[in-house]
Order: sequence, then C-alpha cells, then structure tokens
Amino acid sequence: MRTTLQQLTQRVAAGERLVMVTCYDYTSARLVDRSQIDLVLVGDSLGMVMLGHESTVPVTLDDMVRAAASVVRGSRRPLVVGDLPFLSYTTPAAALAAAHRLLAEGGVQSVKLEGGAQMVPQVESLVRAGVPVMGHLGFTPQSVNQIGMRVQGREAGAAVSVIQDALALEAAGAWAIVLELVPEQLAAEVTARVSVPTIGIGAGAGCDGQVQVWHDMLGLFEDFVPRHTRRFRSLGAEAVAGLDEYVAAVRAGQFPTRENTSRMDDDVLAQVRSDLAERA
Ligand code: KIV
Repeated sequence: MRTTLQQLTQRVAAGERLVMVTCYDYTSARLVDRSQIDLVLVGDSLGMVMLGHESTVPVTLDDMVRAAASVVRGSRRPLVVGDLPFLSYTTPAAALAAAHRLLAEGGVQSVKLEGGAQMVPQVESLVRAGVPVMGHLGFTPQSVNQIGMRVQGREAGAAVSVIQDALALEAAGAWAIVLELVPEQLAAEVTARVSVPTIGIGAGAGCDGQVQVWHDMLGLFEDFVPRHTRRFRSLGAEAVAGLDEYVAAVRAGQFPTRENTSRMDDDVLAQVRSDLAERA
C-alpha cells in the first residue's frame, strides 16, 4: 500500500523524521521500494543529473510526466511527489493544468512548487481542487539566474521573509515545505513556527525530515560532492569497475562462456550446412 501524506504527517507529529530521496526512473524506484525511504521526489533536478543541463530551467512538463510515471510504475510503497517545472505555474490556471498532468498521467500523489507568498494563489487553487502541494523555500533552483546558487536567508530581512513565506504557504494549505540551503538556525525557527512538516536539504538537522539527490548521496558523479551531501555509497566507482571488468573479460575471451550461451543440436547444424551447400 502506498504511504499517504496523512500517515507521514502523523509520523512527524509522533516525533519521527521523514526521509526523502529524489528518483527519476523505474529501476531506481524499484530500489527505493526495497529500502525504508518514506517518500520520493521526482525532482526537476533530473534536468541536471539525468539530462545533463546546467540548471533545472530547461526541464519541461513532458520530461516530468514521463519520469513521474516511470517512478510510479516502479514503486508501490513510498509517497511520490513531482516537481512542477519552471514557468509551468505562473498563474493558478496554469498550475492546475500542469498539476493535472502530473497527477493524472504521472500518477504522483503531490506536486511541489518553488516560491513563497507570491505563490499563495496557485497553492490555494491547487489545494481547493484536491491537489496536495509541497512548498519549496530558501534556495529555489528554478530562480538560479536571479538569486545565484548560494545559501539564502543569512541576513535578518531575508530570514524574516523565509519565515513569512513558510507561514503563508502553510495558511494556503501546503502540507509540507522543503527548505533548501538556509542556515540551520533559520530552518529550526521555521520548523518551530509552522505545523506542517519541513524537509531540509542543506538546512541542518532541525527539520522534520531530509531530502537528498540520488546521484549525490549514492556517489554517482566523481567530480562533484555538494557540501550538504554525504556520500553513503560510491556507486559511480563501482559501476566503472564493473564496466572495466566486462571490457577485460571480453578482450581476454573469458566472456561470454557456455553458461551465457545457448546451443543448437549438432545434427541441426549439419543440416544447415548441407542445405547451404545444396543451394550453392
Ligand atoms: O529537484 C530537486 O531535486 C529538488 C530538491 C533539491 C529538493 O527540488
């Protein structure tokens, strides 16, 4: 049975920490399903880690819907949240249309959108229409061209805005809020002031849960480890070692072996040769 947001909210109320990871495809979703991860985010970070873009800005709704549907097909247990991509929710009507596709075609249980008080009309109409919304404050990657990639809310005015934005999202009906790249004290302050779960990434341990990007925490890239990540495995190195063992085995004639191969009857082979000889 798929986890519901009500179950997650109750678990936070009971003092449990939620654990979320991004997920973009069927195979990874099947792995998540075998783990104890609570909820997955089909994040628009797929633009960077799956499609090789420099930011999340080029990600389309079609990209998100296809990824969401494959994650939903691969998992039965975790709640699946899908990102509304850049400029797909500039008005309440646009947000409803984009969310409709993510829920109806992608099969997600909640959408996530970036922004605070200015997104209240969108959040309200989504929630009124029955779409669970997760907010996203602090560093909001879709605005990277405007705000740069840096910790947000270090100054008093900016910190107050983050808190006000969180309260506005909660009042508008968001069921949870991601806090990305904010000082840990600010994340703890938000967490104490809102009644909905906060999920941090680069926001310290004071949030109600944590989210990490799959490729970062499992060590798929060798050249980049964000400060807010811990590598729990080095799957990239493991994969390269496996590929190179494959190359060596093929070159040495050690793969494939009989075990990996099927054979036909020697009589059939003789028949094939004689048929060909006759035709020639
Ligand atoms: O798209 C994403 O991966 C995200 C997380 C960083 C929260 O929005």
